[in-house]
Amino acid sequence: MSNARILVFGNEKGGAGKSTVAMHAAVHLLHQGRRVAFIDLDLRQRSLARFFSNRVQWAAANQKTVPHAVEPFLADKPARLLEAPEVDAKRAFDRALNEALEADFILIDTPGGDHVLSRRAHAAAHLIITPMNDSFIDFDLLGEVDPVTLDIRRPSIYAETVWNSRKQRAVWDGKSIDWIVLRNRLAATEARNRRRVDEKVHALSRRVGFSVLPGLRDRVIYRELFPFGLTVTDLSPEVKPVALTMSHVAARQELLALMQSLGLENTTTEAVA
Ligand SMILES: Nc1ncnc2c1ncn2[C@@H]1O[C@H](COP(=O)(O)OP(=O)(O)O)[C@@H](O)[C@H]1O
Ligand SMILES: [Mg+2]
Repeated sequence: MSNARILVFGNEKGGAGKSTVAMHAAVHLLHQGRRVAFIDLDLRQRSLARFFSNRVQWAAANQKTVPHAVEPFLADKPARLLEAPEVDAKRAFDRALNEALEADFILIDTPGGDHVLSRRAHAAAHLIITPMNDSFIDFDLLGEVDPVTLDIRRPSIYAETVWNSRKQRAVWDGKSIDWIVLRNRLAATEARNRRRVDEKVHALSRRVGFSVLPGLRDRVIYRELFPFGLTVTDLSPEVKPVALTMSHVAARQELLALMQSLGLENTTTEAVA
């Protein structure tokens, strides 16, 4: 029996922050001494895989010790899975997931748009984490809003994907899937828009069954360390491709609060030395 917890980062909208939140969650867990495996199902962009490959290269070139995640074998050329027959793609994914089961956490990043492997990953999740930008364009994939009254008419395309995953999962093993939506790239200046989107997200959360978390502000530090394969959580007197500033300290706090509310804060075992 595996105790691996499977986290799927999903939202059919591209640019919502799936890969960004996945990287930050992975690094947070690694610093907690957790074994982390990842599967990058964004077979074209491979941002999460690129992040971890940058991390290995940066650490080796600079002779630094940082904790690393493992990537189970998916395919020699992952992008080819996009054209592969469905059974072959599913087999490759199942094999990778099986290989990852020794980890404490398996993080699966998914592409914008619908794909058979993305659906399979969603159905295998313990927890689906959906970042969304603070925008009605992003909300539209979760729920359809009446243009006159701004009332929610019905759950829309991505909410349906999650609904179908939950149904499939209930048939597979009778288990349920938790779903968390978090707002990403929040701007300090958009209080009115935020309040409106907030209201809709909360109303929809009750209807389709997800929890809402406060999420992350838009901050340069969440994107500028990508070429090094690092996040602000890695920064220390040893590891400092950029100097730590007060705004970085605020970002670390914000991330920590998010990880705590995602239930990813380790309270039982010791952190990595
Ligand atoms: N909180 C944030 N602050 C600043 N930039 C962000 C934040 N979240 C995401 N980004 C940037 O937004 C873009 C889209 O994010 P990404 O994680 O690639 O989205 P997705 O994986 O959902 O397509 C990237 O350029 C990323 O660096
Ligand atoms: Mg991505």
